[in-house]
Amino acid sequence: MNVVVKGLTGLRDWVDDRFPLVKLWNEHMGQYYAPKNFNFWYYFGVLSIVVLALQILTGIWLTMNYKPDAELAFASIEYIMRDVEWGWLIRYMHSTGASAFFIVVYLHMFRALLYGSYKKPRELIWVLGMFTYLALMAEAFLGYLLPWGQMSFWGAQVIISLFGAIPFVGEALSLWIRGDFVVSDVTLNRFFSLHVIAMPLAIVGLVFLHIIALHEVGSNNPDGVEIKKKKGVDGKPLDGIPFHPYYTVKDSVGVIVFLILFAAVVFFAPEFGGWFLEANNFIPANPLVTPEHIVPLWYFTPFYAILRAVPDKLIGVLLMGAATTIFFLLPWLDRSPVRSIRYRGPIFKTALLMFVISFVALGYLGTQTPTPEMTWLARGFSVIYFSFFLLMPFYSKIDKTKPVPDRVTGK
Ligand code: HEM
Repeated sequence: MNVVVKGLTGLRDWVDDRFPLVKLWNEHMGQYYAPKNFNFWYYFGVLSIVVLALQILTGIWLTMNYKPDAELAFASIEYIMRDVEWGWLIRYMHSTGASAFFIVVYLHMFRALLYGSYKKPRELIWVLGMFTYLALMAEAFLGYLLPWGQMSFWGAQVIISLFGAIPFVGEALSLWIRGDFVVSDVTLNRFFSLHVIAMPLAIVGLVFLHIIALHEVGSNNPDGVEIKKKKGVDGKPLDGIPFHPYYTVKDSVGVIVFLILFAAVVFFAPEFGGWFLEANNFIPANPLVTPEHIVPLWYFTPFYAILRAVPDKLIGVLLMGAATTIFFLLPWLDRSPVRSIRYRGPIFKTALLMFVISFVALGYLGTQTPTPEMTWLARGFSVIYFSFFLLMPFYSKIDKTKPVPDRVTGK
């Protein structure tokens, strides 16, 4: 045996005598049986992990030159972009990464809607995923203040002051979040601390729990068939294949394609027409000049459109909160006997389509200057958005379903 291989095997065995290395590897990779019919939609879990790693790595390097000080923050970003070697690349990777994170996570969540992956016994995977999503929204919001541009400042100002709408405690609460009467250096410092330490820690921890919960019950698949129910004489699921090497190899194809697309945006269109980096944020924060239109980045706009569609501030805030958190209830709202859309009936298919249309339309409306017509449109789409969830216990129950096969179909 080659001396290097011998050395490495020896080291592995030494560690293995003191730490369950091989056991963990087998449990989660080498002998983790995943359904053999994973399709396109199953790339987005691993891609979420890739983007998370990218954000943490580029974030560490950005922090080496960023200054969390209201006097210096904007200039320190310019310094990173112009003077720090490869600073522009690290910064664009991080800003593009934020949008990429939401793209892959939204597609990852949509897959769960398509195949009923949140249904029993995977409710906890879903709930942990939802906490991760909320933490991700907080992380993006906190990070957006750091460049200390006009949108950073005024975006934070608008969102924090929303808490003021809560009766009795609202004003005190927004003062507590800001740490000052206006968004200031104090706010910047605490947002920096939460953005670089607290939220990343929470996200990594939640993702860890998410995967442990997934590996406890096993993955769902595009047919929504429980592969553990049909086992061979060796006790392995007949429709399962070991995650390593089969899915490690398959996923690496997805990761490479993703990285090519990601690099194309980073190198050729990092602002992405104002969708990933807004023009107003290249202007230093000025507390005395309010930008004409204050809009959040695209991943928040569906919820922002719901907020703006409601005339009463408190009800608007409550509905916006409900729009983001109502997803938690999906496992209990869906009463269909089948999981996958392949075996669902026309009512669910139509409802899901309407939901996607309303989500995209609200996202678009949230980026536009509101006119009375647009506000009415946003109200209509908000009704569709909430109906998808609130009517689900009824339509998912009465919808006609097709018989589910015993084994996965391999399509
Ligand atoms: C940082 C964010 C996240 C990461 C890194 C992540 C990672 C993963 C990975 C690696 C898998 C297994 C591979 C796959 O099924 O694609 C998975 C499965 C799953 N995730 Fe996530 N996830 C994240 C966020 C979310 C969110 C926000 C939700 C929903 C609210 C969610 C719901 C699920 C569900 C239901 C499954 C099981 C899917 C199935 O077996 O069909 N995840 N996740």
